Amino acid sequence: MSAAGEEPGRLLVRDLAQVATPAGAAAPLRVTELRAVEVLEDAYVLCEGGRIAEVGEMRRLRTRGEQEEVDGRGLSAIPGLVDCHTHACFAGDRVEEFSLRSGGATYEELHAAGGGILSTVRATRAAGEAGLVQALERHVGWMLRAGTTTWEAKSGYGLDRDTELAQLRAVRSAGGSATWLGAHAVPPELAEEGADAYLDFLLAEVLDDAAELADAADVFLERGAFDDVQARRYLEACRGAGLALRLHGDQFTEMGAIPLAIELGARSVDHLEATGPDGVAALARSAVTGVLLPASALFLGRPMPPARALVDAGAAVALATDFNPGSAFCESLPLVCSLACTQLRLAPEEALAACTVNAAHVLGAADRKGRLAPGFDADLLLVAADDWRHVAYHLGGPVVHTVIRGGRIAWNSRA
Ligand code: NIG
Ligand code: FE
Repeated sequence: MSAAGEEPGRLLVRDLAQVATPAGAAAPLRVTELRAVEVLEDAYVLCEGGRIAEVGEMRRLRTRGEQEEVDGRGLSAIPGLVDCHTHACFAGDRVEEFSLRSGGATYEELHAAGGGILSTVRATRAAGEAGLVQALERHVGWMLRAGTTTWEAKSGYGLDRDTELAQLRAVRSAGGSATWLGAHAVPPELAEEGADAYLDFLLAEVLDDAAELADAADVFLERGAFDDVQARRYLEACRGAGLALRLHGDQFTEMGAIPLAIELGARSVDHLEATGPDGVAALARSAVTGVLLPASALFLGRPMPPARALVDAGAAVALATDFNPGSAFCESLPLVCSLACTQLRLAPEEALAACTVNAAHVLGAADRKGRLAPGFDADLLLVAADDWRHVAYHLGGPVVHTVIRGGRIAWNSRA
């Protein structure tokens, strides 16, 4: 095996029962393209220098010089999963709140009473940068073991200059795509002054440095958080600083997130559990991707987003975990794929495309991530079954056999 730090050598994954990948080269995928998964039986994937060099049937494999080999018998390869929406950079947990919710307290009530997001803000501020880096490392390990090789994580648990920037630095140095969610909640010290005063502070004191560290900006457009006028102000300033735009929208209430996302040319609008027919139609006509988070809807006992209607109307949709300590303590995209098939009525092929190609598109990385094809990054999930669809079929099962990232074995269930 090549030593860490060195250029990865040649890695051959051979005798795979199946290699399955979204077909074609376009991104994002819509309507029938979302179902087009190419499956090769009795196949191999050859990785070289961290990229995929060849994908083919075993009978076409030409022997060559020295290489590391992985025995793929009984396994199926799919692209390493792409989690385009997480809040993985947090300290502490909210198991106490989980317990209260099981007794009937609602997420919005806990938030309004100073718990919820604000309790994670207290824990994250208290952890310090080293503590935060450690917590993130642990969470990224969980994500890797669930088959995620590319991930995004947001700030939004600092709500002060130092902790917001520490979150963004931690995400970048752990290899993630960083999103500045400064506008997640109004911090307790500015509760009296309110959301506008907090935005004044964010845009004057934090934006310039955040824009150096983050790829995108995000806002929680919701009652009790930020309204459409405030969201517009924040996003326009972030766009001016060169950041791509994302929105948390239509989670509990439709407050204009979809029209705003379309008007501002956002990459995505995420959640959509409360989206009605007009929102579906508008999103379908637009270039904005709808990011669906069924684990969050499940965890909060909320309605599922109108996924089938969105796909059938022509919208680009992605799937993500929303991994966070409050509304979705779940890092597993395989579980999200199961929910997509059982709750959102998506086909396994649509679910796969939504958490590979389309998720990579949301992160601006669809030219390198999300497909098993020559030239793409050598990120593979070896599913522990001879039919790749077990990744969605085996609800909560041990479907991740091996994870390869950048042409190296990053995790192996047998090790
Ligand atoms: O996407 N809704 C806003 N933000 C997160 C939850 C964050 C939290 O509860 O800590 C979400 O669900
Ligand atoms: Fe979220």
